[in-house]
This record gives sequence, structure tokens and C-alpha cells, in this order.
Amino acid sequence: KGQMMWGGRFAATPSAIMEEINASLDIDRRMAEEDVAGSRAHADMLAEMGILSVADNEAIQGGLDAVIEEMRAGTFPFRRELEDIHMNVEARLKELIGEPAGRLHTARSRNDQVITDFRLWTRRALDETGQLVAGLQAMLVRRADENTSTVMPGFTHLQTAQPVTLGHHLLAYVEMLERDRSRLLDCAVRLNECPLGAAALAGTGFPIDRDMTAEALGFARPMANSLDAVSARDFALEALSSLSIAATHLSRLAEEIVLWTSPQFGFARLSDQWSTGSSIMPQKRNPDAAELIRAKASLITGHFSALQGAIKALPLAYAKDLQDDKRLTFDAFDTFNLCVRAMTGMIETISFKPDAMRAAAAKGFSTATDLADWLVRELGMPFRDAHHVTGRIVARAEAKGVDLADLPLKEMQAVHSAITQEVYGVLSVEASAASRTSYGATSPVRVAEQVAQWKQRLRVE
Ligand code: ARG
Repeated sequence: KGQMMWGGRFAATPSAIMEEINASLDIDRRMAEEDVAGSRAHADMLAEMGILSVADNEAIQGGLDAVIEEMRAGTFPFRRELEDIHMNVEARLKELIGEPAGRLHTARSRNDQVITDFRLWTRRALDETGQLVAGLQAMLVRRADENTSTVMPGFTHLQTAQPVTLGHHLLAYVEMLERDRSRLLDCAVRLNECPLGAAALAGTGFPIDRDMTAEALGFARPMANSLDAVSARDFALEALSSLSIAATHLSRLAEEIVLWTSPQFGFARLSDQWSTGSSIMPQKRNPDAAELIRAKASLITGHFSALQGAIKALPLAYAKDLQDDKRLTFDAFDTFNLCVRAMTGMIETISFKPDAMRAAAAKGFSTATDLADWLVRELGMPFRDAHHVTGRIVARAEAKGVDLADLPLKEMQAVHSAITQEVYGVLSVEASAASRTSYGATSPVRVAEQVAQWKQRLRVE
């Protein structure tokens, strides 16, 4: 086992368990490309400022080309005893080009190096995840488009409340996901400052140009405080909290899929691709992916909480606690992306059952509000009185075991004599949904407008 890169003052190498707890390579090797990009920008800047010779920079850049090639070819010799990706790249560079490799770390520390890599990684991840979310939104819009006038029960307290349209219900998730996406994009803007050049924590006496490295790596500007630069992880917390909120939305939709596909609701059927069977009960079609999304939403929230806990009592500047930021963040992104992909697949192939939805929408006196509204509109009754009269009519219908639309007129007139045959025009679930035409409301006309807008915004065909 070779001497550690920092081994100058040590007589013995770390114990095997020390290595085990300390090594982060299995996780941070995912930042290999970012690490090389950071080193390239740093070396170019050192050469530009005359801190590194042009020849040494050329050797370093050529060596980094070779490193990247080895990584892409799968031949890069990753060595766990070298702790992390930064040490692995530098050690390999040394093997490939010799002495100039040792000059690359001038005016740099792993503390500013790692956080530069991590910000670059997270910036790209936020962008990719944003695109996946947009894909799910587009799928929901497509299904909403097919169902602008499909009537289903709208619920409060999970009790039938008023008829709504399925398209409207699906678009509610498109709205939530749009806010989720904007949180992710927002986070990417705020994180886009460059910590490189902060060195260990105090900056450096070498005449470096931090604007140059910031620009080369696509950052808006260098971070203004070197202590903050190596200590700050709020960008990761922000990403995790945004993912956690977004996962919460996926989980709500997942829960509705579980309910809707249950035999008791029967509103929808998952395709074979997205259903699982039971090892004992042949009739089962289980919504496992939806259930796993529910559970994984908590896992992501747990990752946020774990990182927040690691940071909240950490004195400035760097401490090794911060190494676990990547494990949590990478896993949160992986888990979330998997959930979005699964949700997109389920929504793409789920078949809705309009007849069952309609029948359920008609149950539970769901058009009672329409009756009350009719009393207000046609008889000039104050809404509170209309509410009371309607309540008494509902009680009669319930006693007779019929829906409002099937209650004979004379029963209604027994409660209020001025009610006429016209009232039946508002008691069907279709009429009820169609009548709600205020901005943002559930009527097929309004929903079709919203679908058209979303198609344009998300460029759905
Ligand atoms: N692997 C380390 C991390 O992820 C790199 C920084 C090491 N810095 C140090 N002072 N030991 O945090």
C-alpha cells in the first residue's frame, strides 16, 4: 500500500476500519467528470497567471484527457485506499505524466475542490430532474386532454362532494409539478456561484483569478467569502427540500392511484406492465409502484432531515461530516428520478373507467349544492336558507333511498312549494360539472382551455 498523499507527517497508514469509514470513493466517483473539469479550469487559470508553466499545463491537460478516456472506457484504476475521487484522479495523473501532476494542487484544497465538483454535479442533476418532471406533466396533460368532460366525484374528507371532471383533477397535479419544477430551477440559479479558489478555508496568497475559473465552469461569479464557500451546503438542502416537496406530490398522486385501482373504487385499471400479482391470490393486480412511490417520498424527506441535522451544529469551516452530503443528495435524486419515471409510465398506460366514475359521482347527493344554487338563482332565496331547504330535501331522498335527480317533484314541493320541474335541469352530474365555469373551475370548457395552454407551455403535440 503506497504512502497516502497527505502522508508526510505519518509513520503508519490508516487502519482498515479507518479506511472503511473514511473512504467516499464508491459515492463520489460519480463526480469524476466534474472533478476533471474543475482541475482543467484551475490549471488553465494557474498557467494564465504565470503560477504554472505553459508546458506543465499542457502536460496536465493531456493527462486529464487520458484520465477521462480511461474513465469512459472503464479502465480507470479506481483505488479505495486513496479515499475519494479527487485523490484518485490526481494519483492517476501522477502515474501518467509524472512531476507536473504535483503542481496542479497549487492554490487549491480538496475543500474547495469537492464543493466545486458537487455544485457542478447538482446543477446538472437539477436540470435533468426538471426535464423528467416536465415529461410527467406532459403525460398528465395528454390524459387530461382525453378526459376534459369525463365526470368523476370530487371529494372532501374522502366523501363525495361535487362532480368534477377527470381532466381538471389531472391538471391539478400539473400545477403542483410546475411549482416543483420552478423550485428546482430556482435552486440551480442560487447555487451557481463558484467556490473554487477558497482553498482550505482562508483563500490563498497565490495571485489566482477566481473570475476566470468561475466563468470557465459556467458559474455566474465566484463566491465572495472563502469560509462560506467551503462550508455552505444550503444549496444541497434546498435541492433536497425541493425534491422532498415534489416527492410529496408524487406520493399524493400515487395514493390516488392506489385508491382508484382498488376494486372498491374501480375508477381505473393499471396496465399489466405496471401491476404486480400475488403469489397466493390469483385475482390480484397490485399497484406496487404507486405504493413504493409513497414510501420513497418519506425516504427523500428523511435525506433532507439527515443532511440538515449534519449541518445545523457544524462550526465553520469544513469538517468531514460534510462528506456524507453527497450520499444523501445523490440517492435523493436517484430515488426521485426513478419515482417520476414510474409515475410517468403508470399515467401513460392507466385506463380510466368513465362509467364507474360517473356512477360514483351521482351517488352521495353530489348535486345538492346545485339545487341550493338553483333556489338562490330562481327563487331569490338567501343562500343560507337555500342550504337549509336543500338539506331537508336531501333527507327525504335519503329516507326514500333515491338520488336527488330521482326524487319526485311533489316530495320537493312538500319542503318548498315554489320549486318547479325546471330544477331537474341542474341535478345531473354533467349539468353540475358544466355549470362551474368560473376561472379555474371544473367545467369541460374551462378545462379544455387549460389543456390548450399547458400544451403550448410544455410543447405537447
Ligand atoms: N472526500 C471529501 C469530502 O467529500 C473531500 C474533502 C476532504 N477534505 C478534508 N479536509 N479532509 O468532503
